[in-house]
Amino acid sequence: MKRTVLILYFLSYYKVTICLRVVGVTVPALKQRGEAATLGCDFDLEGGKLYSVKWYRDNEEFYRFMPRLRPPQHAHKVDGIKVDMDKSSARRVHLKELSLKSRGLYRCEVSKEAPSFHSAQAEAFMEVNYFPRESPRVSGHERPYSPGEPLDVNCSARSFPPAELQWHIDGQKVSERSWLIPYGTQPAASQGLMVSTLGLRAPAHPLMQLSCIALMGTLRRERTVIVEINSSSTKKAFGLTVLTLLGVNIRFYDKIL
Ligand SMILES: *[C@@H]1O[C@H](CO)[C@@H](O)[C@H](O)[C@H]1NC(C)=O
Ligand SMILES: *[C@@H]1O[C@H](CO)[C@@H](O)[C@H](O)[C@H]1NC(C)=O
Repeated sequence: MKRTVLILYFLSYYKVTICLRVVGVTVPALKQRGEAATLGCDFDLEGGKLYSVKWYRDNEEFYRFMPRLRPPQHAHKVDGIKVDMDKSSARRVHLKELSLKSRGLYRCEVSKEAPSFHSAQAEAFMEVNYFPRESPRVSGHERPYSPGEPLDVNCSARSFPPAELQWHIDGQKVSERSWLIPYGTQPAASQGLMVSTLGLRAPAHPLMQLSCIALMGTLRRERTVIVEINSSSTKKAFGLTVLTLLGVNIRFYDKIL
């Protein structure tokens, strides 16, 4: 009986000495493209010696710290990861110039020296957003409209994740659902961005101020255009049509003669 107690005591004591805990990782949950991020790995060796600290993004190792090596730090080439070695150490790693490719699950893995080589890990996700400074693009407002013809315009904005779009007419938010045409989102040509497009098909009046507002979190981009609808523009468009028809007729005549 006494011996069992002794063994149990010894086992629990032994367990404590070989134990290693990663108390936690500090990974920012959300960053903007171009910003820097400091990731922290807080561990408790409980008496032992540190063998290595390794950092992974989506299971790909990008940084390790091994006190026995000279230099102790080493960074691996991983797409979207730029480690600032001067600001990195055993307990933190500093990432420069984040891009959309930097988003992912970050894991810190800590190992102790021989003989235990015990290791522990913790992980957290970092999201990276990008909302370019450019204003949304409005199209369809520059062509002439004939009186009574409804407005038919589009607004597009590039961002990641897709931005929410709103139309405003003369300062009033359009809430009439039948006027709004959600075209959804599509991948942009570059940089991993998404393009959201919202159409507006609304009754027109002679002078309209149209604003498209793109929202992402607390960020906002806006484009305002003025649409003028008057009879002079209609006359011009009509005149052009007549001329084109005349031209066709003349050529037709030439062939017959
Ligand atoms: C608006 O966008 C949709 C989808 O891309 C397109 O089919 C439509 O022709 C566009 N309309 C205007 C007025 O630009
Ligand atoms: C509409 O009329 C105004 C003058 O009344 C003129 O300056 C403007 O150019 C016209 N707009 C178009 C699109 O023809």
